[in-house]
Amino acid sequence: MLTLGIETSCDDTGVAILRGEREVLCEYLSSQIKDHSRFGGVIPEFAARKHLENLLPLVDAVLNECHISGQELDLIAVTRGPGLMGSLIVGVMTARALSQSWGVPIVGVNHLEGHLFAPLVDAEDIEPPFLSLIVSGGHTEIIRADAFGRYELLGQTRDDAAGEAYDKVARILGLKYPGGPEIDRLAKTGNPQAFDFPVPLRNTDKVEFSFSGLKTALIWQVRKFEASGGDIPVNDLCASFQRAVVDALLAKMKLAVKMTGIRRVTASGGVSANSALREALRRSEGFRVWLPSLGRCTDNAVMIAMAGANSWLRGNRRSEEVLPDPSLHEFTQQ
Ligand code: KG4
Ligand code: ZN
Repeated sequence: MLTLGIETSCDDTGVAILRGEREVLCEYLSSQIKDHSRFGGVIPEFAARKHLENLLPLVDAVLNECHISGQELDLIAVTRGPGLMGSLIVGVMTARALSQSWGVPIVGVNHLEGHLFAPLVDAEDIEPPFLSLIVSGGHTEIIRADAFGRYELLGQTRDDAAGEAYDKVARILGLKYPGGPEIDRLAKTGNPQAFDFPVPLRNTDKVEFSFSGLKTALIWQVRKFEASGGDIPVNDLCASFQRAVVDALLAKMKLAVKMTGIRRVTASGGVSANSALREALRRSEGFRVWLPSLGRCTDNAVMIAMAGANSWLRGNRRSEEVLPDPSLHEFTQQ
């Protein structure tokens, strides 16, 4: 089975061809980071226009590289939400047009289920049940996967997503967008104990997160330095902020393991590229962790093709039209 995956939920245009459920034949990813970084964040209309320019040439490129025609595909898997409306429309409408003209069936994929598949691309030995920490610019949540297609949301953030907090803190510190990789880099030479930032909701008995108070605590520190005219210790602030974020994520993952008895853990989403988080998860006792390769933490089309192919093979062949849904969230009933 050959699946064409299409991902356009935010600012990355991704296209990939998958054979069977795991074999990646070819993939292309066009990042718009440079286009958006001068604005300090993603500009939705601009992102949609860029997807429109990039998507069809990338589809042509993967087909050419695999020496196959569109008609030879067995399935098109496209992200239908959650994400930016304009970006999703470009992906979904392009996929529908290609599906019509090639006579190939189409399946809509929940972007979050896509992230859940990312660690599985390179790992043969992970099967449900497992717990998945999805931690990105838009989401921070822990999902229990009892089977592919059978998921339960154990808990999520009450306010900012972890990646969003990284991006906001980076902006306060005058660092470039996206903030996560910059803070990760600077934190390596900072002191994680320099500032006693709170680890939000760490000791509650619920799987829940909150990052906006942490961001405010950091703003107050920066203001104090500004008021006193002193140099801002950016690296120490980055390291202390990161220590608090990683502590919160790890504490709740341990709680989820304790609550469920499931000791297989995955992480995915942009923040799962964070070096401190990866190390903390790998070192932690009480569970085994599977992480995506660095390139597959952030948005990509391979994870969408995998989730789509898996869902199709499970018999999920809904005949209704695939429509973009920017606020699609629950993916318990796939
Ligand atoms: O999964 P993703 O590409 O897009 C969403 O679905 O949101 O995640 C992007 C987010 C951004 O907030 C970015 O700052 C963060 O992931 N990120 C990181 C790192 N690399 C990317 N955060 C912390 N450390 C990193 N190394
Ligand atoms: Zn994502």
